[in-house]
Amino acid sequence: MIPRVSLSQFLIEAQREGQLDADLRLLLEVLARTAKALAVTISKGVFAGIHGEAERINVQGEMQKRLDVVAHELILQANAWGGHLAAMASEEADQVVPIPERYPRGGYLLLFDPLDGSSNIDVNISVGTIFSVLRNPRLDGSVPTEEDFLQPGKEQVAAGYAIYGPTTQLVVSFGKGVHEFTLDREFGAWFLSREKMQIPLETNEFSINAAYERYWYSPVADYIRELRAGREGPRRRDYTQRWVGSMVADMHRILTRGGIFLYPVDRKSKGQGGKLRLLYEANPMAFLVEQAGGLAIDGVERLLEIVPQTLHQRVGVAMGSKVEVERLRSFYKRRSESAPFPS
Ligand code: AHG
Ligand code: MN
Ligand code: MN
Repeated sequence: MIPRVSLSQFLIEAQREGQLDADLRLLLEVLARTAKALAVTISKGVFAGIHGEAERINVQGEMQKRLDVVAHELILQANAWGGHLAAMASEEADQVVPIPERYPRGGYLLLFDPLDGSSNIDVNISVGTIFSVLRNPRLDGSVPTEEDFLQPGKEQVAAGYAIYGPTTQLVVSFGKGVHEFTLDREFGAWFLSREKMQIPLETNEFSINAAYERYWYSPVADYIRELRAGREGPRRRDYTQRWVGSMVADMHRILTRGGIFLYPVDRKSKGQGGKLRLLYEANPMAFLVEQAGGLAIDGVERLLEIVPQTLHQRVGVAMGSKVEVERLRSFYKRRSESAPFPS
């Protein structure tokens, strides 16, 4: 039998090498535990009572699914008492959630999208959980506020996601590459399945919701037209398209075999700055993509450089294989440098 490295062993060895401290290790262990619990719940489907709407609207104005609420509450509870966090922020909570007074406050802030791909839950398509970890800038032990979370993505100390698919996996980076762990349900434990994942530089797969084509600005429209032209077009090769509708699933495919993922600002979403959330979706994925040798931009700028203005800020996203993301960027740059997203 091939010797297996458990998540615990991997993290302890990384800690010994100075790659992370005990609190960050605890945080990752807790997130792995919540992902395991969610995987079990999700696999029970309709019998776990997690299908359907929760009859509540979240801060983004979206109808919450039951599983959105279950995942959000589970992650909050599991992370409240360990002493490793000072506060949390969730896509499903209007405001920052402080650690309850009765527990010690730690050195990290956790941001998360408890359930990514909500529209796919009821139809048995892969969904996920995305997380991002920042340092708590407050050294005096006081309660963090929204401002403390508004750090550019390059300040992340760790990020990752769990994917609840045919196989349940956890993909994590704490700044020394991207590592994938696979849940062995019989053992109830995570084992290392891929170390230091690398996104292939080139690809022939792209990922975008083409139903919004009529809203696209010309950089995206021109770039996609080029890909669709295939071997008869300027790129001289055939491309294929994939769109799961769960960012986690689309990005997991791209981290595995390459590709480019786009959810651009378009004429429809420009009022709110895009669809995907900078702090819960774009930044953690951008961190993983860069750690795996890819590129992640809003069209022109590196996503990780953007200084957030608000907790639930949205942003345009293009990320994945370097060669493709650079090519898209060149289309944006042909426009006026000052107005890459024209009105
Ligand atoms: P969430 O379920 O957390 O709201 O996120 C859904 C996101 C993302 O996962 C996906 O890529 C995108 O929304 C799909 O949007 P469309 O339905 O517009 O294609
Ligand atoms: Mn999401
Ligand atoms: Mn979500």
